[in-house]
Amino acid sequence: MALVTVTIDGQTVQVPEGTTVLEAAQSIGIKIPALCHDPDLTPVGACRLCVVEIENMRNLPASCVTTCTDGMVIRTNTPQIREARKTILELLIANHPLDCLTCEKSGDCLLQEYCYEYGVTGDIFGGEKHSYPLEDSNPFYIRDMNKCIVCGRCIRACEEIVGRSVLDFAYRGFRTKPAPFMDTPMIDSDCVYCGSCVAVCPVGALTEKGMIGKGRRWEVQKVKTVCPYCGT
Ligand code: FES
Repeated sequence: MALVTVTIDGQTVQVPEGTTVLEAAQSIGIKIPALCHDPDLTPVGACRLCVVEIENMRNLPASCVTTCTDGMVIRTNTPQIREARKTILELLIANHPLDCLTCEKSGDCLLQEYCYEYGVTGDIFGGEKHSYPLEDSNPFYIRDMNKCIVCGRCIRACEEIVGRSVLDFAYRGFRTKPAPFMDTPMIDSDCVYCGSCVAVCPVGALTEKGMIGKGRRWEVQKVKTVCPYCGT
């Protein structure tokens, strides 16, 4: 396979053609924040948190959907990039319940982790927030769309890992959210409750019922198991 050479934060690295900037950075231990990206799913460049600077490009491209080309010079952590990422986080937090004290995902939430890293302490805009009721219509997990950051990981997991496509984006603009066809309750959808969507959610929007009240994430031991429905 042909290789391309790129320079990332002063380090030169050779990567196979087709490698994204995010993957190239990760391959040499450079961490770039990423909310919508999951290595097992197709990258979509939805959250824009992974933006970087690339010499001779005027905009800030999303590194998860930008392919390395030979001679590229990339910077991942300049003041301009940090400012852009902080603004993105502030916009996400502007429509978030900020209930981290009691959220089941606290301590294992990527949004919380990045807000800490970028010094985002709360809602600075004071605009409208969602007030969806908790969706508790099925025996396995709770959907709290007030915490959803519309990254689409659950939609891609359902389609690409499970092959079911139960979810898609519903509505438009501020009301956009992942939902089954016609926004029916999950219990009336084709969901098989395999938990793939719950496993890839980076925030507290999807929570396994069995986890609630059992302790913090780091207090719970994970064991390997096989889904009785899809066998994965
Ligand atoms: Fe790249 Fe979301 S992680 S745009």
